[in-house]
Amino acid sequence: MEMLIVCPKDRGNTYQVCRYAAEQLGCSLGIIARGDALDLKEYETVLLASGIYGKKIHESLAHWITELPGDLKNRFYLFTTSLSPGDYQHARRQVQQLLEQRGLKLEEDHMNCFGKNFLFFRLCHPNDADRRNVLAWVKQISSTV
Ligand SMILES: Cc1cc2nc3c(=O)[nH]c(=O)nc-3n(C[C@H](O)[C@H](O)[C@H](O)COP(=O)(O)O)c2cc1C
Repeated sequence: MEMLIVCPKDRGNTYQVCRYAAEQLGCSLGIIARGDALDLKEYETVLLASGIYGKKIHESLAHWITELPGDLKNRFYLFTTSLSPGDYQHARRQVQQLLEQRGLKLEEDHMNCFGKNFLFFRLCHPNDADRRNVLAWVKQISSTV
């Protein structure tokens, strides 16, 4: 399976779930904040992963997308963690537009799971069930031809 998961940072809810999926599936996990060299040409599928902040994806991931070369052949998917069950739709449109500006396309299939923050909300998330759900979804998109 040739999949790269791209996370903005190496801590937090999104990273925790992505690290689990990457370990279980043996796929690569690239962290933007760590300055990981990410050669997308080595991968068939790229899973963009982010928490949602003010209904948008992490700004370092957004910036990274704006610098992608336009001649890529990868399939791009989006995974988000958020407090609200609906805000991922806004973030999804943002990513769709950013990719389209590079001549790239976002696949329809999307996964969002709840992620706690520093206040009182969603304190039990992401939990084991969330991690298993995300893993099953990542397996499914990685096997889609
Ligand atoms: C500054 C800030 C803004 C946020 N804005 C939103 C938001 O607009 N909608 C939402 O559903 N969750 C929002 N959240 C919650 C995060 O999306 C959620 O906790 C997510 O799991 C964070 O991911 P991370 O731990 O990988 O950074 C916000 C959290 C923070 C800290």
